[in-house]
Amino acid sequence: MAKIVNSWNDFDPLKRVILGRADNSVIPPEEPATSEKVPIDSEMRGMWGPRPTETVEKANAQLDYLAKVLQDNGVVVDRPTPLQWNQAIVTPDFRTDSGFTQMPPRDILLTVGNEIMASANSFRCRYFEYLAYWDLMGQYFEEDPEFKWTQAPRPRLTDKSYKHNYYDERITIEERLERTAAKDFVTTEVEPMWDAADVMRLGRDLFIQHGLTTNRKAMEWFKRYYPDLRVHAVNFPGDPYPIHIDATFVPLRPGLIINNPQRRLPEEQRKIFEANDWQIVDAAQPAHETPPPLCYSSVWLSMNCLVLDHKTVICEASEVHQMEQMDKLGMNVIPVPFRDAYPFGGGLHCATADVYREGGKEDYFP
Ligand code: NVA
Repeated sequence: MAKIVNSWNDFDPLKRVILGRADNSVIPPEEPATSEKVPIDSEMRGMWGPRPTETVEKANAQLDYLAKVLQDNGVVVDRPTPLQWNQAIVTPDFRTDSGFTQMPPRDILLTVGNEIMASANSFRCRYFEYLAYWDLMGQYFEEDPEFKWTQAPRPRLTDKSYKHNYYDERITIEERLERTAAKDFVTTEVEPMWDAADVMRLGRDLFIQHGLTTNRKAMEWFKRYYPDLRVHAVNFPGDPYPIHIDATFVPLRPGLIINNPQRRLPEEQRKIFEANDWQIVDAAQPAHETPPPLCYSSVWLSMNCLVLDHKTVICEASEVHQMEQMDKLGMNVIPVPFRDAYPFGGGLHCATADVYREGGKEDYFP
């Protein structure tokens, strides 16, 4: 029997990955935690329903091309099982009119060593998204005797999990930034809630973004669940929509991280990196002024790259400045067009979840 699951970071040599699919993706209706995350000027406000077929086809074409590039680079690529998301999601505690997608597995699956854990997302529409990965989890469980197949405690997501009246259409970007700085987010602290894409793994250390999708109770839960790991809460005060760490703070190899220049890690939180000779470099400017239509994410998906090993990185093919910076930082760049996939849940890193990388549980911050 083979060892199939192992990954402790985002930069050791990648050998096996889950890559999302765009099929059946839906723009979900508003619910308590979503308005806060849709930019005020987004054309998606007030809109919901299945995404147009031609956009799904274009996204899938780019996802399939990424699969081929990964395979050509010796990576085994697994794909989720699409579900029909255009139907209501009902639990004893809530009802919402649709699900979402199985495009960004990074939001749902957290790989730590030989364990893959489904997360405790705060969006009601994402409540059953993990099911798209369950066939794969079952397969890994059959084939890898050491694989730990785990589900984080499921949040109830009752009305008590959210601050009501948190969002107001008139709220300005400045007010949003004040809230981010004050660590005042839409979720409450009645239960742990977290998206896996808020967790940055560096061997013995987990750096977890406290923001709109992950709360403080989740940090406490992680500390108790992984007593052998060090859990650090991180904040990025310059981000008016703090969701997911991987367009903000992205490690490229041991000792090197790129940081979004508009969302700098505060001095106090940089100390652990500086004390251990890690370099934090401002990421290059995005090549685009706006994201593609019907996209939740910002132009900073430019830095949402997928590192294949300490010298190789996949970047979005039109992100000329980011690619040039990677080159200067000593990385070989593989360009892959991906903007048609962005609206379905993010960039190259978001679209994947680690299954196997070489390497072990290093202590980078002794
Ligand atoms: N908040 C992020 C999401 C990145 C995956 C952004 O849009 O910049």
